[in-house]
Amino acid sequence: MTQTDNTAVSFTGAVKTYGAVRAVDGVDLDIGRGETVALLGRNGAGKSTAIGLLLGLHEPDSGVVALFGAAPERSVRAGRVGAMLQDARPAPRVTVGELVTFVASRYPAPMPVARALELAGIADLAGRRVDRLSGGQVQRVRFAVALAGDPALLVLDEPTAALDVAARHAFWESMRAYARRGHTVLFSTHYLEEADAHADRIVVIDRGRIAADGTGEQLRRAAGGNLVCVDLAGREPNGLALLPGVRSVEVHGDRVRLRTDDSDATVIALAEAGAIRGLEVAQASLDDAFLALTADGGAGAPKGSGAVSGMRLPPRGRDRPQRTGGRKETV
Ligand SMILES: Nc1ncnc2c1ncn2[C@@H]1O[C@H](COP(=O)(O)OP(=O)(O)O)[C@@H](O)[C@H]1O
Ligand SMILES: [Mg+2]
Repeated sequence: MTQTDNTAVSFTGAVKTYGAVRAVDGVDLDIGRGETVALLGRNGAGKSTAIGLLLGLHEPDSGVVALFGAAPERSVRAGRVGAMLQDARPAPRVTVGELVTFVASRYPAPMPVARALELAGIADLAGRRVDRLSGGQVQRVRFAVALAGDPALLVLDEPTAALDVAARHAFWESMRAYARRGHTVLFSTHYLEEADAHADRIVVIDRGRIAADGTGEQLRRAAGGNLVCVDLAGREPNGLALLPGVRSVEVHGDRVRLRTDDSDATVIALAEAGAIRGLEVAQASLDDAFLALTADGGAGAPKGSGAVSGMRLPPRGRDRPQRTGGRKETV
């Protein structure tokens, strides 16, 4: 099989700028058929821009984006893609059933409308006018619209915004049912838990670049396996970065948090230095991994970088901050 047969989405050196902002800044990414991938990043990271590129809504300034081995526009026209975008247009003044029927009619091999409504959890809303629904209900209508064509690739940009907890749960159930049927799903989110719980693979995007790519477990490991926290007790934090295993040092008031590859060696060294007041050792969470891999926590990238247990991490480059300590918790 050629790459084209197996690849649903491919970005090669894709760049998209808005004036001085490099919204997508040299992205290389292949998503195989049947994968469920989360594009995880903070607000402004470049998720929607990347999705716009892959749907052919924007042209890259440089690089190439392809869907199923063809230009995005062609694959979209051929009905192979269903999308739920973030910038929703105003709700049309038609019923839910009419809207989904219309959209389905434009695809070569749509799923039955009743099935799309059922999957989106809105079978009971078929006769209701779209412009008179709640925000959460409209969101589910948009999901039904994305599903209507029975597309090989489903693209969902922050799909759970505006959904309450119960609707969120139902939404992910439907998404997974769709993915299990062999379809490819790409969804964006800024919720770590969503990415971890509902994707096979997490692609972390930060300032237009891919900061990490792997399973949730791989992300946790690559960001530094453990955290060791102690009280500073008036000591200077300088020098802690040199302790065995330590990758990064963060100071929060009188507490210091060391991200370490070898918590035993770090703890022993701290003990030898007599600095173990308030000692705590914990496994890094995905949250920690995310912080370490993105904007303010760039110091967490592994020493030497390169490929780490299946993850691709960028080299410690020009604009990855190497700060240690004192960073803000912004997620
Ligand atoms: N149409 C636009 N015009 C100017 N800047 C834009 C436009 N769309 C996005 N941007 C900028 O590009 C960056 C990435 O935005 P976006 O892709 O929407 O991020 P995300 O979806 O991850 O929140 C941000 O800095 C944003 O302000
Ligand atoms: Mg967005």
